[in-house]
Amino acid sequence: MNQPLMAGVHVNAPTFVKNARLIAWVAEIAALTQPAAIYWCDGSIEEYDRLCQQLVDAGTFKKLDPVKRPNSYLAWSDPSDVARVEDRTYICSAAKEDAGPTNNWMAPAEMRTLLQTGDTPLFKGSMQGRTMYVVPFSMGPLGSPIAHIGIELSDSPYVAVNMRIMTRMGKAVYDVLGTDGDFVPCVHTVGAPLEAGQADVRWPCNKTKYIVHYPETREIWSYGSGYGGNALLGKKCFALRIASTMGRDQGWLAEHMLILGVTSPEGKKRHVAAAFPSACGKTNFAMLIPPAALGDWQVTTIGDDIAWIKPVDGQLRAINPEAGYFGVAPGTNFKTNPNCMASLDKDVIFTNVALTDDGDVWWEGMTDELPSHLIDWQGKDWTPETARGADGKLRPAAHPNARFTVAAGNNPALDPEWDNPAGVAIDAFIFGGRRSTTVPLATEARNWVEGVYMAATMGSETTAAAAGQMGIVRRDPFAMLPFMGYNMSDYFQHWLDVGAKLEAAGGKLPAIYCVNWFRKGADGKFVWPGYGENARVMQWMLGRIEGKAGGAENLFGVSPNYGDLNWAGLDFSEAQFQSVIGIDRDAWVQEMKLHGELFEQLAYHLPAELTATKAAIEAKLNG
Ligand code: OXD
Ligand code: MN
Repeated sequence: MNQPLMAGVHVNAPTFVKNARLIAWVAEIAALTQPAAIYWCDGSIEEYDRLCQQLVDAGTFKKLDPVKRPNSYLAWSDPSDVARVEDRTYICSAAKEDAGPTNNWMAPAEMRTLLQTGDTPLFKGSMQGRTMYVVPFSMGPLGSPIAHIGIELSDSPYVAVNMRIMTRMGKAVYDVLGTDGDFVPCVHTVGAPLEAGQADVRWPCNKTKYIVHYPETREIWSYGSGYGGNALLGKKCFALRIASTMGRDQGWLAEHMLILGVTSPEGKKRHVAAAFPSACGKTNFAMLIPPAALGDWQVTTIGDDIAWIKPVDGQLRAINPEAGYFGVAPGTNFKTNPNCMASLDKDVIFTNVALTDDGDVWWEGMTDELPSHLIDWQGKDWTPETARGADGKLRPAAHPNARFTVAAGNNPALDPEWDNPAGVAIDAFIFGGRRSTTVPLATEARNWVEGVYMAATMGSETTAAAAGQMGIVRRDPFAMLPFMGYNMSDYFQHWLDVGAKLEAAGGKLPAIYCVNWFRKGADGKFVWPGYGENARVMQWMLGRIEGKAGGAENLFGVSPNYGDLNWAGLDFSEAQFQSVIGIDRDAWVQEMKLHGELFEQLAYHLPAELTATKAAIEAKLNG
């Protein structure tokens, strides 16, 4: 079993695999990484159940109580492998300028020496003693003209079962691939080869990590981590970093956006796509329930994280390339996100949440009352009494970045069109960060360029969990900072070009809005109630699109007046409204300086339209 496969050894491809390039590539990677066996995934439920049982037997998974949480599992990772590793993520384009100033870069030849071809490259023998899983997946509905295929080779069965939930994974992908179809090759190893007879650990990984993208050859190579976006390569690596470069070359957009259907009480359905940086309540917005007092508004989920958007017949049509949600658990509860909680009733893989005494899961914020006893995400006993540190603070029972993996089909608010291969026509884009000051609740761009400017200069305050330092504004253009596959300024230009082309062809451009749910009052508390109440802002936006809602020009676009929002069922005074919508001149003078710093950083290829927009805002500010 532990004999390495040798170069030239045939890889026992099943008869349903007919793509010669794929078979040759699997043989090539097997020769490099020397797995003990190769397993071709078929995506069946029997296979999923079997691999989950194998993970239970290996100690990686715990099966949760079959009554409380049917068909669900809990995994605890190594404490050193708990999140995406942005500082270990590389865009290895041929030219450094093409990766741009916001990405780590290494010359492709140098990276290949390190990973593949040098004297002791990291991937050489990296799968020894393990099985290499061949995971075929489609990002987007199988066969959709907007979809693309990837094949992930991974030595992690945890990755194989998560990929079955997160993507359309299995045998049918090979039918679409045919004998000569194209795919994005994704190689993943946890970087923990096993010597003959060596016992495995619960969560194998390596302290050295590399998450590498070659945009020109559209390849992904990931080493050393088994966690989330580092290892489930369809998500951030393919659907954003590689796909953004495909979109640049082919005239479409790969975006860090959720997609919603919004149906008015009159039955008019619109679609919005919204970009928020990590930790800004994106999952809550994706599953929002409008307050009943607004009337019978329905919000339905098409996607929660990523949108692929293509110009088709004068519209921008979007699909969700994923098939499941890999969401942050802590903070989620029945009050803030009942649809999400309902999605997690069954068929879930939880990672790094706490285990209750009755075989269920718990995380910070799930209930007001703390459980009297838990096993925390590191496998240690946890009680409200004993988990308090010297500083009086409770040690979290779930890791702040603990996750659930669940199929989109579990979401009670799933949009009936979510799987439509033709996608849905986007009527509005929303961009929002977490800003306790400065940025108003809602602003409509007066034109496409102004909207691109808003998105390009978007910033968000870091949260304690993410950065250890509260309240630092990090510029996160289009919420794409960690996910951009090429030079950020070229990406701004691409957005301008997509808009200009659509307009020139007589198409209808979606409206663009900038929002901020997070302004705080003098007491340090959020003024705007957020969550479901955000539907009031959406109602205003859709009213604007219909030409029915009012607004007033502010410094950089059009914001609602107090009377332009529907206040039915909400006690929110005009003074409170002023404190979330007002423009503070001094704050904006400061803000424009920060836009200036961003533009200095991104000076190479920065579109002149954006510099001109900045100058126009400054002139207005000084006028
Ligand atoms: C995510 C993220 O996990 O944006 O979706 O970090
Ligand atoms: Mn995300």
